[in-house]
Amino acid sequence: MRILVTGGAGYIGSHTVLVLLQSGYDVVVFDNLCNSSRKSIERVSSIVERQVNFVEGDIRNPEELGSVFSKYHIDAVIHFAGLKAVGESVQKPAEYYDVNVGGTAKLLLAMQKANVSRMVFSSSATVYGVEAPTPYVESLPRGSTSNPYATSKAMIEKMLEDQSIAHPDWSIALLRYFNPIGAHESGLIGEDPLGIPNNLMPFMAQVAVGRRDRLAVFGGDYPTPDGTCRRDYLHVMDLAEGHVKALESLYKSGCCAYNLGTGSPVSVLEMISAFESETGVKIPYKIAPRREGDLAEFWADPLKANQLLGWSAKRSLNQMMADTWRWQSQNPDGYN
Ligand code: NAD
Ligand code: UFG
Repeated sequence: MRILVTGGAGYIGSHTVLVLLQSGYDVVVFDNLCNSSRKSIERVSSIVERQVNFVEGDIRNPEELGSVFSKYHIDAVIHFAGLKAVGESVQKPAEYYDVNVGGTAKLLLAMQKANVSRMVFSSSATVYGVEAPTPYVESLPRGSTSNPYATSKAMIEKMLEDQSIAHPDWSIALLRYFNPIGAHESGLIGEDPLGIPNNLMPFMAQVAVGRRDRLAVFGGDYPTPDGTCRRDYLHVMDLAEGHVKALESLYKSGCCAYNLGTGSPVSVLEMISAFESETGVKIPYKIAPRREGDLAEFWADPLKANQLLGWSAKRSLNQMMADTWRWQSQNPDGYN
């Protein structure tokens, strides 16, 4: 079975490509490299000792997409390609809707033309909106989103639901990720953000490796046990394995959403202390003002993915820290 992986050179995509290859799937990666490096795919190749088909292209370009579907027989698509920085999406809404929503519509048209009707989509916990009660459960409606990135994910979910209603033979899994961190245990692939990291784990890892002076902890006065925000951090390899489980579920038609998280919230201060105790490296930090738009806490109810996909997150917080540190210390400048 051959899978087209859009955005497969990125952080979650590269780990998923690795797990797909190790599970016996053929893979074609389609990525315009706007936020990634070809080296991620070269390293995946070296781990699995197999060439990976790579096509450089943009999901907004029907000709580039069309030529991939004509060159390769594709059985299903895992769709990671998109822009993901919340703050940037507020500054550049048109670009975010163009790539995320417009790009996904182009991808659907190309799939229709090639008679490909199975898709796994990278959604996000952010679609539950700003007022949903925790833990988030899939039976909640999508809520009111607070930035163009989140709105683009909610719009794509709706588009995919409409597609599956109009075409009952289509099968789509919407995977709502919580907070993926960590890296493959080889230390060869990992998260390599361009510029100053927006997210907690890559920022902390860059402080640890000496690229940044100290971590700003955004807010110490939230109504949480230690006053800092709590999130549901899951290992990127667990998340990658969730995609293979979701692919295996696509023999049934319809569009179905699944939370992929551990079900346990962890605070920012607990993250710092887990990193320090696992690696022995001190993280200098300072409590800073709250970051605009942050929710105090949210985490997943992961029961549905467990019951219907047979998936649960297995790797511990300590392993997430150890693997992040192995990647960052072996590659202080990422793929550069
Ligand atoms: P990433 O930026 O590392 O990967 C996205 C990939 O898509 C990159 O390789 C980029 O070059 C590619 N891409 C972007 N625009 C493209 C286009 N127009 N055509 C072709 N390729 C394009 O991000 P990631 O963390 O691996 O996230 C993957 C997906 O998961 C994204 O859709 C993201 O929104 C979603 N997601 C991520 C998180 C997270 O915390 N990392 C959480 C929830 C959802
Ligand atoms: N944080 C800091 N300092 C930093 C960075 C983050 O204290 O330098 C805090 C944040 O305030 C937040 C927590 O660490 O409390 C986690 O922040 P991240 O930016 O790592 O993650 P978010 O929960 O804000 O958002 C992430 C993705 C979104 C996605 C969401 C749910 O960035 O795209 O998880 O999946 F929608």
